[in-house]
Amino acid sequence: MENSSTGILDLSSLPKEKWWGDDCLYQVGGFWLMPEVVQSIDRVIKQFKPLSSDIILASFPKTGTTWLKSLLFSIVHRSSKDRLAIENPHDLVPFLEMQVYAKPNQPLITTTFSTNNQSCRIFSTHIPYQLLAKTLDSSECRVVYVTRNPKDTLISMWHFVNKWKKAKEKPWPFEVAVDKFCNGTFPCGPYYDHVMGYKKLSMERPSKIFFVTYEELKNDPKTHVKKLAEFLGYPFEGKDVEEQVEEVVKNCSFEVLSNHEVNKSEESPNWFKLPYNSFFRKGAIRDHENYLSDETIERIDALTREKFHSCGFIY
Ligand code: A3P
Repeated sequence: MENSSTGILDLSSLPKEKWWGDDCLYQVGGFWLMPEVVQSIDRVIKQFKPLSSDIILASFPKTGTTWLKSLLFSIVHRSSKDRLAIENPHDLVPFLEMQVYAKPNQPLITTTFSTNNQSCRIFSTHIPYQLLAKTLDSSECRVVYVTRNPKDTLISMWHFVNKWKKAKEKPWPFEVAVDKFCNGTFPCGPYYDHVMGYKKLSMERPSKIFFVTYEELKNDPKTHVKKLAEFLGYPFEGKDVEEQVEEVVKNCSFEVLSNHEVNKSEESPNWFKLPYNSFFRKGAIRDHENYLSDETIERIDALTREKFHSCGFIY
């Protein structure tokens, strides 16, 4: 709830739940947020006015955000190979809540220009559609949403959290991670509500949002990258379309990206506590099979059937 004199969301008034040791998540509009982003998400919701030329990448954490950032940047800027070799995708496409609106002063908005010299800003966010609907609907901006198999998302997050400094003394137990994922007390969770918010938008307004899964991209990157470029209004053109698409797919592949020095770096960006190399782990499909028991797989699959299948979304 807001403090009436300052207009600032008051953390102490929000419902909270422990998710890792004594660390709590705070509930806003039905979603569980890390305390570090509660205020900045509030600023994004109140202050961000997207332009009709903006591209907003939305995602639940650990579903392929870094990959999509590199792809979107490459589609809009085409000759992105050199930039991707020296800059991490998160520095090329900033998070609204963790970078652009991280501080209460002026937002850090920079405008870049696409190959056809149009001004084009690409932002990303983990904010659920349920909280960002008014903002996204206030302009003709286009939205790209990436999602991923829930079990692989959970495994990726479990590894990621256990790379945090404090995990050295206090690791995030696997069983706790599974429970928190299933009951929704997970950063930006519940996962299922996050996905369904954007999925419903994609069913109602397919021209507004491009909804893609990590697995679709992995299995047939060229087809999806071509479709994505057309959706964004930056179609590949000319006689060598296939080569151009192949080049983008290759430059953004896990193998190429994760081998750049900048992405192998142990240094952390100034907006996050983990090093650049933590955004690249394995980049594989079905890695959960190496971690989850049959019983846990069935537990998550039952939840997935209950939450997704009634809407015709099959995972
Ligand atoms: P794993 O932990 O399963 O390896 P996010 O970018 O949303 O934080 O998601 C991180 C996940 O995407 C990690 O998954 C990471 O390895 C994977 N990833 C990062 N870059 C990738 C790329 N270029 N292609 C495919 N997967 C990528």
